[in-house]
Order: sequence, then structure tokens, then C-alpha cells
Amino acid sequence: MKKYLINTSGCQANELDSEKISWVLDTIGYEPTEDKEQADIILFNTCAVRKSAEDKVFGQLGELKELKRRKPNVVLGICGCMMQREDIREFFLSKHKHIDLVFGTNNIHKLPQLISRQLETGQTIIDIVEDTREIDESIDAHRKYSYKAYVDIMYGCDNYCTYCIVPYTRGRERSREPKVILDEVKKLVQSGVKEVTLLGQNVNSYGRTLSVDYSFPDLLREINEIDGIQRIRFMTSHPKDFTHELIKAYMDLDKLSPHLHLPVQSGSNRMLKLMNRKYTRDEYLEKIKTIKNLVPNIAITTDIIVGFPGETEQDFQETLDLVKEVEFDLAYTFLYSIREGTTAAKMEKQVPDKIKHERFQRLLDTLNPIGLKLNQKLLGTVQKVLVEAVSKNDNEVMSGRTGSAKLVHFKGGEELIGKIVSVRIDNVKTFTLEGIMID
Ligand code: 5AD
Ligand code: SF4
Repeated sequence: MKKYLINTSGCQANELDSEKISWVLDTIGYEPTEDKEQADIILFNTCAVRKSAEDKVFGQLGELKELKRRKPNVVLGICGCMMQREDIREFFLSKHKHIDLVFGTNNIHKLPQLISRQLETGQTIIDIVEDTREIDESIDAHRKYSYKAYVDIMYGCDNYCTYCIVPYTRGRERSREPKVILDEVKKLVQSGVKEVTLLGQNVNSYGRTLSVDYSFPDLLREINEIDGIQRIRFMTSHPKDFTHELIKAYMDLDKLSPHLHLPVQSGSNRMLKLMNRKYTRDEYLEKIKTIKNLVPNIAITTDIIVGFPGETEQDFQETLDLVKEVEFDLAYTFLYSIREGTTAAKMEKQVPDKIKHERFQRLLDTLNPIGLKLNQKLLGTVQKVLVEAVSKNDNEVMSGRTGSAKLVHFKGGEELIGKIVSVRIDNVKTFTLEGIMID
């Protein structure tokens, strides 16, 4: 059997796309391998959100030149967000002549035909589709895990945050039909999946492109009714469209995990305006205050960008103050990265790297003690943990996640993977909880 290897970078949307690519390759008789020496097809599913991801893939492709020389029949492909951008695509193709196949995020279903064309002609095949309406809903995914799964509920993004390349890579926002999503979740549950994570760049605007009046909370309510589903999560939620109806869903729906990822990006109104985020610091804080009052055990996580063009010490201080006020359980922090083609790339007053790094460190120094303090509140509590894997450092230790998405380590065996167990927390760190399984 021919073999394929997929190297995936970036967000959950890319992880799911790689599972779809695997499924398509399975249907034409390929099987997966982790070893590039064994592979007949090597694919890089790329991310364009930050320049660092681009540089990494560029280097990895360079390293494969030697393998391609030794094994000229190996098909070397590159796909994903980076390839949706003409400038990046042309740069890669001009520097790496050994690339055989280029496709994008919206035409995964065409892969069999693209591969045969490449094998027949030996030419570099390039096929990019910009319109998210072209996405073929009939392809399935070769799921990496048997007990948890990602489910796309929408594609693309129409928000145009000025730093972000996604609207220029993943195209226009398009919601999938509720029935298609519900059928997919039902099928997953029948195959043993306990937890689904619903994916969209801004799930709060789900429904906007549908012909019927149907919102994200409507979808959550219907999924909550599905027999056998145990946990529902979602990513990512935009604060501007975060409604009271969604807070109500947290209060009403027993399977909706008590975790909200609500990217704030900055605590300064001046920055939020320049970022085109369409909410103010006070509006964000108000929403957080309301949900914390009404859903007391909820864990709040966020994304923060440090060093957006024009960010002054005063703006950054406002981010630190907001972090202290909200008390995030966890934040994903990013150094602002210039993305050609976005509005912010053309802005003046880019922040020097040295200042960005220094602020970044101060941000971590503010966030980490808060994370630890919130974890300490969980000492002695019993948490339901979905067991995910054997710990990397100790094969007698298992790792899993609480409903609030916190990572938990506890002693146990591999047979627990995919089960939901009760763990009493007896030690905590900044990013992990430790405990003893009690049933
Ligand atoms: N530079 C740094 N971080 C970025 N993000 C998006 N674009 C950029 C950029 N140009 C971050 C945002 C977003 C997360 C997925 O990535 O915080 O929420
Ligand atoms: Fe990028 Fe903003 Fe869309 Fe998120 S909402 S993908 S940050 S443009």
C-alpha cells in the first residue's frame, strides 16, 4: 500500500482539515505513516497567522530537497492557509522548485484528481479555490481520536481584524446547514465520541448566512439533546457578537462545558479600535462580569497580542490592568507579527522587537500567578476528567481535561483513555492540576 505523511501546523481548523485529507487519501488506497522515508506523499498543511510558522515550513521544505533527490517519485505537497495567498505561494514555488503539488483549504475533495494529474505528468500541480461555497460537504474525516472530535460549523471569516490574515486565506464566512452539523455529531456519537468541539473563526455569528433564522445558541440547544454526547465545546467566540442568549445556554445546557475562550487581544480602547475589533474595553469587561456572575464555575481563557503597531506603554499597561481585573484562567499570548496584505502591516509606528519581547515577558509575569491562584481554588475538589493520553514524562501517569479545559495528571493506566473519570485534586501548578482517581 502507498503511504502518506501529513505535517500539520496551526489551529484546530487545520487539524480537522488534515483529518479530512487523511480520509480522502484513505479512500484512494493510501495509509498513514510517521516516517518520511516510507512515505509516497508528504504534505505540509500550513498556517499563515504568524510569520514564524511560515519560516518554519520554509526550512522544513528545504530539508526535504535531499530526500526528493534520492527518491524523485515521492510527491511533495503543500496546502492550507499559506497556499491561499498568492504572494506566499509564489515565493515558496520560486525558492523550492521541488514542490510537486499545491492546493488550498477549500478544495481538499479534489485531491485524488490532483494527485493522479501529478503522477501522470510529473509537473507541479497548483489548484486554489477561493470561494468557501465550493467546499464539498460530503467528505468525511479520518479521526485522530476515537473519543473526541472537531466539527466545523462554519468556514471563513468576515471580520477583518486589521492584524489578521485569515479573511484573506480562508475566504468569506459561510455557516453550514444545522442538519448537516447535527447529522455529523450524531454519527460521531454513534462511533463512540464523547466530546465535540464546534469550530468557527467566530461561532457567535453562526447562522448569519443561513436562509432561516437560526443562531449559535439554537445549534447548541439541539446538540445538547443528542443522546450519548457528554461534552460540548466551541472555538472561537468574538466578543462583539457575544450575547446574553449564549450566557443563557451555559446556564441551561448540562453538556456545554463551563469554559469560554473569548479573545480580547488588547485592554486599550485605542488599540481595539486600530485592530477593528468593534468592542470597547468596558463592553468586554461587562460581558465577562455578567457571565462570571451567572455561571460561577466558568473558566475564561483569551488571546492577547503584544506590540500591535502604535502600542504605547500606557496601552500595554491597560492590557495588564484588564488581565488583573478579569483573572483569566489561561491566555494565549502572541508577539504581533506583520502579515503582508493586512491593514496593520501598513501602519506606522511598528513596535521594536526588544520592546515587544520585554512587554511579552511582563504579560506572562502578570498572567501566571493569576492562573496558579485560580488553580489553587480547585485543591480538594473532585473533577470529571476526560482521559486523553499517557503522560509524556511518566508512563504510569495519565493526562486528561476537566470540563473547564484544565489539564489534569493522575496515576492510572492506558485502558482509561477515552473514559470520563473522577479525580480529586491534591496539587496544582500554573498550567496543570494533579490528583488521585477516585472512580
Ligand atoms: N500577529 C500576532 N498574533 C496574531 N493573531 C492573529 N493574527 C496575528 C498576528 N498578525 C493571534 C490572535 C488570534 C490568534 C488565533 O492569533 O490573537 O486570536
Ligand atoms: Fe482573524 Fe479577527 Fe477573523 Fe479571528 S475574527 S480569524 S482574529 S479576522
